[in-house]
Amino acid sequence: MKDLHGKNAIITGASRGLGVHIARALAGRGVNVALAARSGDALEATRAVCERAGVRAISVACDVTSQLDRERLVAVAAQELGPLDILVNNAGIEVTAALEDFSLQQIEDVIRTNLNAPIALTQLVLPAMRARRSGVVVNIASMAGKAGVPYNSIYSATKHGLCGFTESMNMELDGSGVRMGVVCPGFVSEAGMWADHGGKAPLLLREVPPAKVASAVLKVVEGASEVLVNAGPVKPLLLLGVIAPALKTTVVKRMGLTRLMRDGAAELKAHAGVARDAARDREAAASRH
Ligand SMILES: NC(=O)c1ccc[n+]([C@@H]2O[C@H](COP(=O)([O-])OP(=O)(O)OC[C@H]3O[C@@H](n4cnc5c(N)ncnc54)[C@H](OP(=O)(O)O)[C@@H]3O)[C@@H](O)[C@H]2O)c1
Repeated sequence: MKDLHGKNAIITGASRGLGVHIARALAGRGVNVALAARSGDALEATRAVCERAGVRAISVACDVTSQLDRERLVAVAAQELGPLDILVNNAGIEVTAALEDFSLQQIEDVIRTNLNAPIALTQLVLPAMRARRSGVVVNIASMAGKAGVPYNSIYSATKHGLCGFTESMNMELDGSGVRMGVVCPGFVSEAGMWADHGGKAPLLLREVPPAKVASAVLKVVEGASEVLVNAGPVKPLLLLGVIAPALKTTVVKRMGLTRLMRDGAAELKAHAGVARDAARDREAAASRH
């Protein structure tokens, strides 16, 4: 899909972070956008930015983990904008923790948001795309979908799943006129979950600006099936992992990634403890009155 002017897209996770940059990049190419996330007010801000590019933009406040909401999103987008050409599955969440510290609910939330939702949304848009023999689904995975990341096992599992889903579907869709592609960012600066966390990426991997992720999405829309977005030498590192898998744990440790993630997990655990203590104090105070 080269001439994007007048095409229609759904972008999930468009209330903040990378989704805003992706929406702006698509709008900048003349794509009408249906913006989805739970935070309605923040979506309105993205909508205003996209409208300034001269396209039609609507915001649909919804939870991508709900099938009812997903159906409503796809129906409203098609009704307000017209037939859908592009779906960008960008909404995602991350919980950094040792596996034993995850609650079952947290595990389920990450899987439902990062993996079930993109699969179910793809299922919903596919029939109309197949009928028109045209359409692209772009999944925002992660470098954690290409290599394992300690203390990020559930997130990494969902992103590996998203990469496998995309590859399988691309084969299944061969000859249908519909395509899928995946974008795998590493550490992104300025906006998004990593920037919010405020950490410093390992020296070897470095950080990339969100604009690079947005242009990777455009590359997939235009025909690429996989774009890795990383400043560091990730391709040789991934190749090394294929040739010598036994070295992976050592390489990840030497890069400083294991310590970085372990520290992040410890910080999150301490915060959760503080929040639990505060809730307990509030309950105790309430019961005294
Ligand atoms: N930032 C990075 O360094 C980085 C690196 C690699 C991959 N990624 C991937 O890039 C994507 C975007 O991440 P980000 O960094 O922009 O994260 P972010 O700043 O935390 O934004 C996440 C977006 O997803 C939405 N979202 C989360 N749960 C949702 C739900 N149940 N229903 C609807 N919307 C939901 C959020 O909106 P509401 O909270 O308003 O619902 C928000 O708009 C994710 O898939 C992430 O895994 C990010």
